[in-house]
Amino acid sequence: MHINLLLEKLDSLTVEEKIGQLVQLTGDFFEKDLDTVVTGPLKKLGLHSDYNVYNTGSILNVTDPKRIIRLQTDYLEQSNHKVPLLFMADIIYGYRTIFPIPLAQACSWNFKEIEQAASISARECYDEGIHVTFSPMVDIVRDPRWGRVMESPGEDTLLAKKYAESTVHGLQGKQPGSVPQDKIAACVKHFAAYGAPVAGREYNAVDMSEHMLREYYLPGYQAAIDAGAKLVMTAFNTLNGIPATGNEWLNRDLLRQEMKFDGVLISDYAAVEELIMHGYAEDAATAAKLALMAGVDIDMKTAVYANQLESVISGNEHLEQLLNDAVYRVLKLKNDLGLFEDPFRGLKATLQQGTRILSDEHKTAARSLAEQSIVLLKNEQDLLPLSKKTKISLIGPYAEEHSTLGMWAIKGDEADTVTLKEGLLKHIDSDQMSVCRGAHLLPDHAREPLGKYVDKLPVETVNEDILLQEAIRHANESDVVVLALGESIYQSGEGGSRTNPTLPETQAKLLHELSQLGKKLVVIVYSGRPLILTEVAKQADALIQAWYPGTMGGEALANILYGTVNPSGKLAMTFPRSVGQIPVYYNELNSGRPNLPENGAYRFASRYIDEANEPLYPFGYGKSYTTFDCSLLSVSRKEIGPDESVDIEVSVSNTGRFDGKETIQLYIRDRFASVTRPVKVLTDFRQIFLRSGETGTVQFSIREDMLRFYGSSMKYQSELGDFEVYIGTSSQETPLHFSFSLRSEEQS
Ligand code: NOJ
Repeated sequence: MHINLLLEKLDSLTVEEKIGQLVQLTGDFFEKDLDTVVTGPLKKLGLHSDYNVYNTGSILNVTDPKRIIRLQTDYLEQSNHKVPLLFMADIIYGYRTIFPIPLAQACSWNFKEIEQAASISARECYDEGIHVTFSPMVDIVRDPRWGRVMESPGEDTLLAKKYAESTVHGLQGKQPGSVPQDKIAACVKHFAAYGAPVAGREYNAVDMSEHMLREYYLPGYQAAIDAGAKLVMTAFNTLNGIPATGNEWLNRDLLRQEMKFDGVLISDYAAVEELIMHGYAEDAATAAKLALMAGVDIDMKTAVYANQLESVISGNEHLEQLLNDAVYRVLKLKNDLGLFEDPFRGLKATLQQGTRILSDEHKTAARSLAEQSIVLLKNEQDLLPLSKKTKISLIGPYAEEHSTLGMWAIKGDEADTVTLKEGLLKHIDSDQMSVCRGAHLLPDHAREPLGKYVDKLPVETVNEDILLQEAIRHANESDVVVLALGESIYQSGEGGSRTNPTLPETQAKLLHELSQLGKKLVVIVYSGRPLILTEVAKQADALIQAWYPGTMGGEALANILYGTVNPSGKLAMTFPRSVGQIPVYYNELNSGRPNLPENGAYRFASRYIDEANEPLYPFGYGKSYTTFDCSLLSVSRKEIGPDESVDIEVSVSNTGRFDGKETIQLYIRDRFASVTRPVKVLTDFRQIFLRSGETGTVQFSIREDMLRFYGSSMKYQSELGDFEVYIGTSSQETPLHFSFSLRSEEQS
């Protein structure tokens, strides 16, 4: 529809109809029996009984295509204005073909395949009638106590930017304007800084300096906006005392003016109403006004806009204008999706032809990304890969577990999942492997706090001692024990904060008992966060971080265990040694009293007296079955002006027995600046695949724009001076080092 027609459409709407466009409800509000709707969902939500649901603009989390057709058809018949409904859903890392959780995906550092994963998600959504997904989530995370780290690309800003860009491109395509066939609209979230709740406790306050916000937390959202994301979602949290959803500075000055976002801003679930609980709005009318003034276009699942906006804006021209602007943005989104031309976006035809969900192509992509997301943390005496001749015992609650999709796979079907056992049986015969559970997934005390999710946990029928004795028997009869352990998927995700993110005690005990047998132990950890693995790592001969690897996870893991695939994942988030180290992240500041190794136990340094400063596994870390040697071939110059670059060539040799991929990481430290700069900032990286014995070259180019940061006057710019460059295979293993200077044009 041409923009003039869109404006005409806007003009033709009554105030009630306009407000309806800003209301998002769930599907139960639209069921045929309106009496039940009025006494049921409407009443429960507190919507006025005369609210006309056929004015509502969008629907949340209805994902059944037939129901989508039914609701849209009915809606268009019943509504006066005939503006089609928008269907939005949480398709976070796959629709039916489930990819690894985003934190795992980021460990692949393969943003081409991450883009492909998003485009497969979009294709499956498109085929099933979904228009908008609430992805990507690009909240920077430094605290693994927080359950939602699983949805984030981790602690680093460069990775977050790349994840944001590739996901938006995969979901929406790269073209501005209309969203083409096979693509859906992306919604970046949670604006802003939702990933930094105090003490890692869900929904807790966020308090951070503007410098920290701009330097580390905003660039991910900005990258998604620059890539064209059509929507932004507000965050639940307060930011420096003001709830994000009612924060005019954040959403208008920063998001719309500075960051140039001109799409739809949607609140997070009930966040408009929660302005009251926050102690920011004294009643629903104030909440409506504050949210509208802050620039929130759509009120997700509360009655606040629906009940209050009409009287709030009445007689106030400024607010009326804000309402019109908001409605225009929603109509524009519908228009960009082509809904005025075809409210079903080809869904009717697709339903007849059959959808492409779970196609072989999609599953192959899911397996490939899973293989690259899995991180090998330890491999003593090259225990891995396993020989097919080795008799193994596969033990643990995850040995045959289908529930490995993570908390946000709302359309994922566990029945589609390839389990670890099934994956292994593609490599070996069943008489090479014995399988048993070994322990309960969770102790009783950890089940109860999971509330309604307890019903989804496995029912543990066998006594733990019996399970343990059986496991010991199996282990004794095998050459190598493969232990598949982990937290429950319900222990991470939204509302999944943990003060002590370790392996459940039931499984820690199993590991301890088996480690006494003198058998080689391969431990595989399934989790939605970095767990504290210090004790686990001591007992395991080989340790693999599997995350929640998605539909094809069992095959991906088996391919790694048997060496068909050489692991290449690199951690996107630091693994702490202990809870007391949290938050621990690689790009910290030096402090005035750094803990220098040569000072030994010198007391007055920035250090712990009961723990090392270094984490268990640092950012960027991940082992391979082969070994790589790097050396600096050339550095073009040691001094650059603003328009010049330092060009670097690094030679990389695969010195081990296996072909493999390495990620060469380039970190920079700005020695002196108007604000202190981190000890290392990931500035670029390259992935290189080398056959055993092969040598290759990777090139980097450092330009002035890569040295910019927010200085003391909050301007984004570089400062002249000296820089250290560290190149290596993790944030801690950076054997290549040199310095260079940035000079002004006159100096250089
Ligand atoms: C709440 C979550 O914070 C958000 O990420 C999600 O998209 C919405 N609920 C909608 O389900």
